[in-house]
Amino acid sequence: MTQDPLVVFTPSGKRGRFPAGTPVLTAARRLGVDLDSVCGGRGICSKCQVAPAYGAFPKHGVTVAEDALSEWNAVEARYDKKRGLKPGRRLGCQARILRDVVIDVPPESQVHRQVVRKSAAVRAIEMDPATRLHLVEVAEPDMHEPSGDFERLAAALKDQWGIPAVTCDLTLLGRLQPALRKGNWQVTVAVHSSHRGGTPRVLDIWPGLHEGGLYGLAIDLGSTTIAAHLTDLDTGEVRASSGIMNPQIRFGEDLMSRVSYAMMNPGGDAEMTAAVRQAIDLLAAEIAAEAGIEPGLIVETVFVCNPVMHHLLLGIDPVELGQAPFALATSDSLELEARDLGLASISPRARAYVLPCIAGHVGADAAAVALSEEPWNSEDLALIVDVGTNAEILLGDRSRVLACSSPTGPAFEGAQISAGQRAAPGAIEAVRIDPETKEPRFRVIGCDLWSDEPGFAEAVGAGGVTGICGSGIIEAVAELRMAGLMDASGLIGSAAQTGSARCVPEGRTHAYLLHDATAAGGPRIMVTQGDIRAIQLAKSALYAGARLLMDQRGVDRVDRVVLAGAFGAHISPLHAMVLGMIPDVPLEKVTSAGNAAGTGARIALLNRRARAEIERRVHEITKVETAIEPRFQEHFVAANAIPHASDPFPELAMHARLPEVGFNTGGETDKPRRRRRRTA
Ligand code: FES
Repeated sequence: MTQDPLVVFTPSGKRGRFPAGTPVLTAARRLGVDLDSVCGGRGICSKCQVAPAYGAFPKHGVTVAEDALSEWNAVEARYDKKRGLKPGRRLGCQARILRDVVIDVPPESQVHRQVVRKSAAVRAIEMDPATRLHLVEVAEPDMHEPSGDFERLAAALKDQWGIPAVTCDLTLLGRLQPALRKGNWQVTVAVHSSHRGGTPRVLDIWPGLHEGGLYGLAIDLGSTTIAAHLTDLDTGEVRASSGIMNPQIRFGEDLMSRVSYAMMNPGGDAEMTAAVRQAIDLLAAEIAAEAGIEPGLIVETVFVCNPVMHHLLLGIDPVELGQAPFALATSDSLELEARDLGLASISPRARAYVLPCIAGHVGADAAAVALSEEPWNSEDLALIVDVGTNAEILLGDRSRVLACSSPTGPAFEGAQISAGQRAAPGAIEAVRIDPETKEPRFRVIGCDLWSDEPGFAEAVGAGGVTGICGSGIIEAVAELRMAGLMDASGLIGSAAQTGSARCVPEGRTHAYLLHDATAAGGPRIMVTQGDIRAIQLAKSALYAGARLLMDQRGVDRVDRVVLAGAFGAHISPLHAMVLGMIPDVPLEKVTSAGNAAGTGARIALLNRRARAEIERRVHEITKVETAIEPRFQEHFVAANAIPHASDPFPELAMHARLPEVGFNTGGETDKPRRRRRRTA
């Protein structure tokens, strides 16, 4: 008796025998092979493309003849003529298995394909979005068997896609009947299935095959900036990324001043909620326009934010977060209607997922960083710092993960700096100071040349040098220290003390002149004593938070440091260590994870299992509350020195020489201020 043909799918290696004439898509489904389809095998979506391989495959024990699959049929020919199929490709729903065959499923045809992340980390995101498209043929109404159009649509989804039941809201019901009739009873529906189970929801409907795609927004809602990534829910590709300033800044620069605003002003919380919701809605509309995408096709949003932003986004007064025991209204993840968060410009049925918070001061942004960096899978002890207005800090490995949040303030983002600005073209982002001549050179965003290279002025263009951003001020302060222009306490010396005319008096202190374009009507960019104090406060808070976690873990050293945050990618590890922002580790053990919170948001947007995972993991993370730990203040004060008053930095000593200079002027104003505690 002859055996049925054998089909072997690659890369999965799944194999089985099927009667001759079985469509490749049917065989793939029976074997559980990851082969996509939106049209359910009608030959119109092209998602099921496969690449048959011919010849001998000793590894699989198969020799594939030229006639192993049925010949091209009219559907494939039509598709090829209209859209074009890549050479060697077939439509899996049309090609039938006739003899033994090896079939490759290319990455773009896999439902759970991996999207390679752009950041240094190699881990890929597996596609498993909550919302998917399905084409269905709906039975026409029959007077003798009366039933509603929606009920027949639900029955079709059950029969054709195995979705047992669906629900929808009123705004969709109004669109259902015209879509069904226009599509001649063939429609595409977007179905959202929560990772928590429950009845899936139909979020949208289109006549016939919808080819306009589906999109989601991953939103990183920070205290200073709001960043959004518009992501294709089919391919995982980021179609546009954009950011705006958080308008709540007018109510207070840092988190605690916003909590104070809510405490002092009746209705202040509602004012801040309205401001941030409006800004997010505007950002959503802008980013869709930038990508040339119909905003109504955005059907999912994911939010990551710190606890205060979290509460203000949700319309909850953050007053409890300003005082011990820092109780959150809710710490669990939330699944909501995006319109309830004021998102009016995207699909009216779009869903919103808010990641869980870890603790009263350790928010969903830290959870997103954890989701992106997975410290629980680390073999060695990793310290992950997400540098922003608040630093989210995680320390851990396979055995245990700890987390805290430290109030760094906005200095690392260029705020509270005399010539500070956001990272934008024209901002100084890198600085070098010659230790001999004490002369600076720098690079600005948008230009690859250094300021002392020929053609710099022309390359920078008419906008010129406009200010200094976070990474620029960090490098400038570290370079001042390495060039002997500033001492370990953070004091800039006078021209007489340093031998540099760039050290100019400013009140009772001194400032370093980095760039003077006043002759041409441009700015005078200085690094002032006040700037250095702001950076000292920020870096001390960061270091103290990290040390607190190390104390809890009972270690004095970590194996590696991961810098995350919107500008984490731009911080030079050497300069961060000269400044004493991070503990001493071999320089090659300091890596950048880019915008890890944003990446975590994207992972949660594209993968339902990741949502379930982070919901579980947050309960396993040990939370450390910096505001009530007595040792925080102790660590903070010791960390004011550059790089540190007492912790040795042996690894740093191998890479940088820090001159032993002292410029004590005895002025009261030179003493570092103690950081304001977060307890209001
Ligand atoms: S499943 Fe849609 S074209 Fe084959």
